[in-house]
Amino acid sequence: MPELVIGDVHIPHGLCLAPLAGVSDRTFRRMARRYGAEYTVSEMVSAKALCYEQSCRRPSAQARLRTAPLAAVMREEYPMAVQLFGAEPEFVAQAARLLESGEYLGCCGEIPPAVIDINMGCPMAKIVNNGEGSALMKDPARAEAIVRAVRRAVSLPVTVKIRAGWDAEHVNAVEFAMRMEQAGADAICVHGRTRAQMYAPGADWEIIRRVREAVTVPVIGNGDIFSADDALRMLRQTGCHGVMVARGAQGNPWIFRAIRCAMEGLPYTPPTLSERLQTAMEHAEGLVREKGERTGIAEARRHMAWYVHGVRGAPAARNRLMRICSLEELSEIFSELRMGNESDGTVTKNMEKTGENP
Ligand SMILES: Cc1cc2nc3c(=O)[nH]c(=O)nc-3n(C[C@H](O)[C@H](O)[C@H](O)COP(=O)(O)O)c2cc1C
Repeated sequence: MPELVIGDVHIPHGLCLAPLAGVSDRTFRRMARRYGAEYTVSEMVSAKALCYEQSCRRPSAQARLRTAPLAAVMREEYPMAVQLFGAEPEFVAQAARLLESGEYLGCCGEIPPAVIDINMGCPMAKIVNNGEGSALMKDPARAEAIVRAVRRAVSLPVTVKIRAGWDAEHVNAVEFAMRMEQAGADAICVHGRTRAQMYAPGADWEIIRRVREAVTVPVIGNGDIFSADDALRMLRQTGCHGVMVARGAQGNPWIFRAIRCAMEGLPYTPPTLSERLQTAMEHAEGLVREKGERTGIAEARRHMAWYVHGVRGAPAARNRLMRICSLEELSEIFSELRMGNESDGTVTKNMEKTGENP
């Protein structure tokens, strides 16, 4: 059984939900926690934007701050990390300090994050062109300076999320991770792909194993976990202390429960179609509650499409799901899907066999 301890934060089975910009908002994280995730990470938050927001003077503009709410942590979310991205050590450190103190404009959380995570893996051009995200893997001295600065600024545990390297010619995760450990990182999450690979299939778990052997702090393995079997294989092959699931949890928060059952040798019963749709509905309702009807429904569309993956009739339903304008419309589509699948048990059986997302 893996044991993951990050500073003073204990994650009993090492079951982590990954940061997913535009996806892992509070509603998504709540669903993941409900079905077994033990540790979650916020969407990535710009350190510089958080710092700049602090100079906002007009009350009307203060009411519309966009960055601070992304970093909000509710009591029920403990232990949760907030992930910062940035290239300037002083900004990242200042943002971490703000998060720890909770004394900043736009702060709407109830508790500080349990952990500060630093993004060193984002591959997007607009991020790496600023020297942020995975560009830091090409500049280990800067990455090290960031970790040291954050380490000095806060007493919270500090972690980094890295990739295998920049591209096939620059796979430097092992040396890079050792430097981050020396700079004060309390744990290292390794996504087994280079920046050049973006999210293409075939994550390299061997690099996770090599990092695990090279550092003494805990290592969290990430990349291509879409089932309980995948998670157990990663744990076995790499010796990592915890697993982090990203796309495998989209529309499938049950993956954490499935992994936990597999770890404990217990039978796992996947959700029935009805349970699946009920959870999807609650997810959509949560988004509407958190973000208002217009944004909530717009954001619910792709989550709903993920939830119906593998269900008979899903392709046609998905087209309609991508255009819903209300919870009522969603409820209607789900009723039709339920009725269309009541005649035989095929769908449920299929879902039980895979119990997962693509
Ligand atoms: C839509 C999307 C958004 C992401 N956002 C973030 C992010 O904000 N911070 C981060 O460190 N990684 C982010 N990632 C990367 C994931 O956390 C994860 O490392 C990657 O998807 C590999 O894991 P997987 O194979 O389980 O999906 C994102 C990935 C996707 C697909």
